[in-house]
Amino acid sequence: MSVEGSIPEATVPEIDTSKPHPARMYDYYLGGKNHFAADRATAELGLATWRAGRVAARENRAFLGRAVRFLVAEAGVTQFLDVGTGLPTTNNVHEVAQAIEPSSRVVYADNDPLVLAHARALLTSSPEGRTAYIHADLRDPQSILSNPSVREVLDFSQPIALMLVAVLHFVPDEFEPTQIMATLIDALPPGSYLVASHITGEHDPVGPATGARAYRAAGLPAQLRDSDQFAELAFSGLELVPPGVTLVSEWRPHGSGPRPTPAEVSWYGGVARIPTLRDAHG
Ligand SMILES: C[S@@+](CC[C@H](N)C(=O)[O-])C[C@H]1O[C@@H](n2cnc3c(N)ncnc32)[C@H](O)[C@@H]1O
Repeated sequence: MSVEGSIPEATVPEIDTSKPHPARMYDYYLGGKNHFAADRATAELGLATWRAGRVAARENRAFLGRAVRFLVAEAGVTQFLDVGTGLPTTNNVHEVAQAIEPSSRVVYADNDPLVLAHARALLTSSPEGRTAYIHADLRDPQSILSNPSVREVLDFSQPIALMLVAVLHFVPDEFEPTQIMATLIDALPPGSYLVASHITGEHDPVGPATGARAYRAAGLPAQLRDSDQFAELAFSGLELVPPGVTLVSEWRPHGSGPRPTPAEVSWYGGVARIPTLRDAHG
């Protein structure tokens, strides 16, 4: 299902407010207003032990903005496929990208019906650029790649940045994420980029693990990964942009002010380039 410019009410899937959803819980961590009692209850179970969970969510969101700025301003990429978009908030990908290059094009994809219901806020493209929203599941990458809006808005002969920011931890190993990554990366033109981030239990063995257990108990798939597991899943065979896989707070931070501790952040991120055939063969 895809949406461009308008959202026909009849196509919005049913929103079940009795069950928690990751997009609404993330909105709760970020201080947004689009969440229900079930989302808050599950979120609070994690926050009880990962007290800096909100700080971590903000650091992740800031990483996303810095990565988009890097891609447009330094790598010259102006096309984005943002899977696991989340509810519209500040600094949505098209806003950051189009502030630098107004002709930037962005396709957003998420599997939460509430994100679809709010998608209009993601369709505020500059006149020179374009945005679209598709209701889709990362675990079915072919459905994303073959979606008509994806093919219409993005030019697959030019580099595209695939954004998998704070979504891979919702794809545990039983969903074969390595295969999902291979399908997506193989479909991207050479010179494209991947931006990814992932929650870890490496620096705080209690907080993030309690959060992940709360998600699973609520029927939401969730898996923590350490930096090696994340790097191998997301960036195998790709050229990591310096500084490589780091805590999101350490990825090209702005300014030199104090930053949260590794345990507070507990969230890795990285940006990598998909090599061209010539690069790959030296
Ligand atoms: C933590 S939010 C991240 C939002 C945004 N990418 C960011 O980092 O600020 C995770 C988003 O991924 C979405 N999501 C979770 N599993 C998904 C899946 N299998 N397919 C598509 N989206 C998914 C959730 O609905 C939620 O909106």
